[in-house]
Amino acid sequence: MSDSVESSGWIEGDTLPEDLPESPLAILGAWFEEAQRAKLTRNPNAITLATADDSGNPSARIVLCKHLDELGYLVFYTNRESRKGRELAQRPRAAAVFHLDASERQIRVVGPIVQSPDAESDAYFATRSVVSRIGAWASKQSQPIGSRDELLEQVGEAMADHGVGARSLLGDEEVSLPRPPYWGGYRLWFERVELWCGGSGRVHDRAEWARDLTPDSAGGFKPRPWAATRLQP
Ligand SMILES: Cc1cc2nc3c(=O)[nH]c(=O)nc-3n(C[C@H](O)[C@H](O)[C@H](O)COP(=O)(O)O)c2cc1C
Repeated sequence: MSDSVESSGWIEGDTLPEDLPESPLAILGAWFEEAQRAKLTRNPNAITLATADDSGNPSARIVLCKHLDELGYLVFYTNRESRKGRELAQRPRAAAVFHLDASERQIRVVGPIVQSPDAESDAYFATRSVVSRIGAWASKQSQPIGSRDELLEQVGEAMADHGVGARSLLGDEEVSLPRPPYWGGYRLWFERVELWCGGSGRVHDRAEWARDLTPDSAGGFKPRPWAATRLQP
């Protein structure tokens, strides 16, 4: 970099290492952890998840990233009969974006999706509040409903079906509520990762890592080594 550009103060803020590491996962994990610790936004683990239907029509929505694995996948939970669930059944691939606004960073990931093992979804479901667990039973996510009252009726029916009273709904009493069969986790495996960092009006920094993933017999993927490329911002 020329001295005059560097000393002008124009180049400020975060950058990626000059020699890009072989894998993006350590930086990705550190950025994510830092955002969770700082908690400068209400949901620092919120990600935009994009899927597409059979005809290639895209759809995107926010979900929460509940686990980032060192093998290079993230986990989110949802209703598998929702729009995203139906699209993932048709095309088991997705893209996701983390906007770590407070640290002016963006992480983009793309890759194949598999369902989380049942035991993992059961364990996570059991940690959810009673209201959230009842909600998972009551809501046919993404299906139309005539009115808000009808939805509340469905909540009432789900409470009656599972013997949940108003006191337990408020968290006063613990209840045993199984995971609905249509609700669970997905693992989005990273085939491509892009890390972006910067500051407004500055020269941002950006690089992409790509790797091949081969399905393995355990329902996951065997990764090949990453290849890194710096990109113009
Ligand atoms: C901050 C925030 C977090 C959310 N987290 C989740 C989540 O973890 N899982 C989920 O299914 N929906 C979550 N939602 C709701 C989704 O954005 C979406 O409305 C819902 O999943 C239905 O999407 P679909 O019809 O495209 O399947 C969240 C919404 C917001 C605003």
